[in-house]
Amino acid sequence: MHADSQTDLFAGDGGVVMLADGACVLRGFATQASAALLDAIDTVTTIAPWRHMVVPGGRRMSVAMSNAGALGWNSDARGYRYATLDPLSEAPWPPMPAAFTQLARDAAARAGFAGFEPDACLINRYAPGARLSLHQDRDERDFSQPIVSVSLGLPAVFLFGGPKRADPTQAVPLQHGDVVVWGGPSRLRFHGVRPLADGEHPATGRCRINLTLRRAG
Ligand code: SIN
Ligand code: FE2
Repeated sequence: MHADSQTDLFAGDGGVVMLADGACVLRGFATQASAALLDAIDTVTTIAPWRHMVVPGGRRMSVAMSNAGALGWNSDARGYRYATLDPLSEAPWPPMPAAFTQLARDAAARAGFAGFEPDACLINRYAPGARLSLHQDRDERDFSQPIVSVSLGLPAVFLFGGPKRADPTQAVPLQHGDVVVWGGPSRLRFHGVRPLADGEHPATGRCRINLTLRRAG
């Protein structure tokens, strides 16, 4: 699926792979911006540190998370919600870095969703072994707006399913700089991430970082 990562690296924008109607991978779309994105992630996570949230039912997520933007996604024993304040500090989430907004806007437009203006960015950090089970992104208010998902650091296998949890999934290998966009008829498709394989990446060290940019409010 990602046969020519070398070409992608130098092309910056290595092409579009359609996953479904309204869903695609933009190979290497964030490669050029990756250093600026990682700098901004450092700034955000200095203010709103990485934490392992708890899901309703009590399990602690293996993925570490933070947020930037007017709204931040949070999970605790009572449920999932977007909120303006970081529950750890009770201060607003750090502002959305300009590099995030620009990349999200450009990637959405490239995927056919012009005018995307994210107000929430969930930042996920996967250490080796961390995974994200199949879920839908459905805590946002307006499902006409897409999700823009940016992969940085170690490669991962993204699972892209259908509208029902039991639907078959496509296993999509994602590399540093790849961006997945899903919206329109694919907006509520189930998706997840297989347990991260161990490794070392020059940009991030021993982890993968994913940004998911949303219009939440
Ligand atoms: C997510 O679904 O929030 C993240 C997906 C990913 O890490 O690629
Ligand atoms: Fe998601």
